[in-house]
This record gives sequence, C-alpha cells and structure tokens, in this order.
Amino acid sequence: MSAEPISTVEFKLLRDYIQEHCGICLGEEKAYLIETRLAGLMVQNGCTDFGAFYRMARNDPSPQLREKIIDAMTTNETLWFRDTHPFAILREKLLPALAEEILAGNRYRIRLWSAACSTGQEPYSIAMTIHEFCRTHPGIQPSHFEIIASDISPSALFLAKAGTYDENSLRRGLPDEMRQRYFNPIGPNWRVKDEVKNLVSFRKFNLQDPMDPLGHFDIIFCRYVTIYFAEDFKRRIFNGLGRLVAPSGHLMVSAVESLRGIADQFLPMTHAGGLYYQFDALSPGGTP
Ligand SMILES: C[S@@+](CC[C@H](N)C(=O)[O-])C[C@H]1O[C@@H](n2cnc3c(N)ncnc32)[C@H](O)[C@@H]1O
Repeated sequence: MSAEPISTVEFKLLRDYIQEHCGICLGEEKAYLIETRLAGLMVQNGCTDFGAFYRMARNDPSPQLREKIIDAMTTNETLWFRDTHPFAILREKLLPALAEEILAGNRYRIRLWSAACSTGQEPYSIAMTIHEFCRTHPGIQPSHFEIIASDISPSALFLAKAGTYDENSLRRGLPDEMRQRYFNPIGPNWRVKDEVKNLVSFRKFNLQDPMDPLGHFDIIFCRYVTIYFAEDFKRRIFNGLGRLVAPSGHLMVSAVESLRGIADQFLPMTHAGGLYYQFDALSPGGTP
C-alpha cells in the first residue's frame, strides 16, 4: 500500500488534533514531522492518505489510536543530569534547607515532581542526587523523599519504569562513579538499582489535565517540555504549577526557558551559574 504525501489541509487538521490532545504546537515548517512520524501508523491502520487517517482518529471513540498518535509525536530527547546546574542547586541549596527542617522535626516528607520525565533519566538523576546527599547527611534518609515522575508518552514511560539502559544512553551525562554505585550490569545493558528505583513512582499524566489531584510538591522539575507549547498553554501550566508548589517551594525549568512575564509568582534565583525559581506566595499571582 503506497501512502500519499501530506497535503496542507491534512497537515492543518492533524496539527490541530495534536495540539488539542497534548498541547504540542507545530508550525507549518513541521509538516514533515507529522508525515514522517505518523506514516507508519497511518499504513498500519489501513489508510493510504492522511485525510482518511485524520477522520479515523477523530471518529475513534476509544483512546487507543489517539494515544499512539500522541506517543509518536512526542520528542523524548533527554540525558542524565541534564544541564548539570539543576542538580548542583538541588544538592547545594534546596536539599540542605529542607534537611534542616527535617532535623528540626518541622517536617517528615519531601515531595518532588519530574513533570515530563521521558525515559527516566531526569527522575533517576534526582534520585541519585538524593542518595548522594543522604550518604553525607546523617539523620536524612531516602525514605524522607518521594519523587513522582510523569509523562504523556506510554512508550517513554515503559522504558522509564524498566530502568534498563544501553551503553550509548548511559554515556550521555552519567558520571562513571554514579554508574558503578547505582546501576547493575545486565548483559550489555545496565539496570538502575532498586534503591534508586524505589524512590520514584511513575505515572501517565497529561499536563493539560487538572493537576490538583497530584498533591503539593516542594520541588518541581518541568524542563524541556513547554518549549513545544503555545504561549497561552505555557502560562496555564506554570500557573497550575504555582498552585501545586508548596509555599517557598521551588521550580526548575530548562536552560532555554524563562518564566518572565509568564508566571510572575515565581521569583528567579541563581546558584552555581544556573537559574531556578522560588514560589512567592505574596506576589499578585501567588494567591489562589
Ligand atoms: C524533550 S523531553 C524532556 C525530558 C526531561 N524533562 C528532560 O529535560 O530531559 C519532553 C517530554 O515531554 C513529554 N510531553 C509532551 N507533551 C506532554 C504533555 N502534554 N503532558 C505531559 N508530558 C508531555 C514528552 O512525551 C517527552 O517525554
């Protein structure tokens, strides 16, 4: 069965469908992305053109085809300890302050959220940073921490939960010392040790959905995901995160994003050459 190239009208229909269901916003120069990422699914579903495929997706009452389309359209690029500075900030600023509260008996639990965790490198990097911190801070244990890691992509989550990585993916940012301490070799691959895995709970979550059921968090990592979204959706997400982050809680965004003019209830702070944000409950946007 040979497939027809995507037409302008078909591109616009599929682009709107994708944006509606996951927020990913594609300019016209990205028509090739829809074409290359969805061609296989289109053929598998017995369609020879993208118009028929779009109608099938629109009229499908079950979520399966929609999920597969979204899965194919997400970009799951990630690496270990990405950008380095968020993990230095965690280790040198945020964890010490939270640990003091634990040691003073003012709190028992610290909750973190990796809000677009892809194949797991981000939440596992957070978990390893926490383990390292606990090794040098008597009285602070991994059981004081809970990391929720979520993503919209079922295939990325499947790999994240498996926690097994090949040599190439481990080479992307994982220091050798961390590999030796927190991974077990399995054939040619490496599997994250249970002590790291057990700190992280994975779940499927679309950032378009109501966030309140997730509860409150002390630190949120929301990185390299809103770069794919339109301005109004970005605003909605960061304002949603503002309702979830604890008073004086913190937010990490990617090295290429800024919340300036988007969510002013987050105050920019710097440490170790990197930017992070602190929630300011007293700002006009900070009161619910
Ligand atoms: C480029 S990866 C970033 C991964 C990680 N945060 C990092 O910085 O390395 C972006 C992730 O966002 C996810 N994503 C895209 N749209 C989403 C949505 N509406 N809700 C939740 N996750 C989404 C994708 O599936 C993908 O895994």
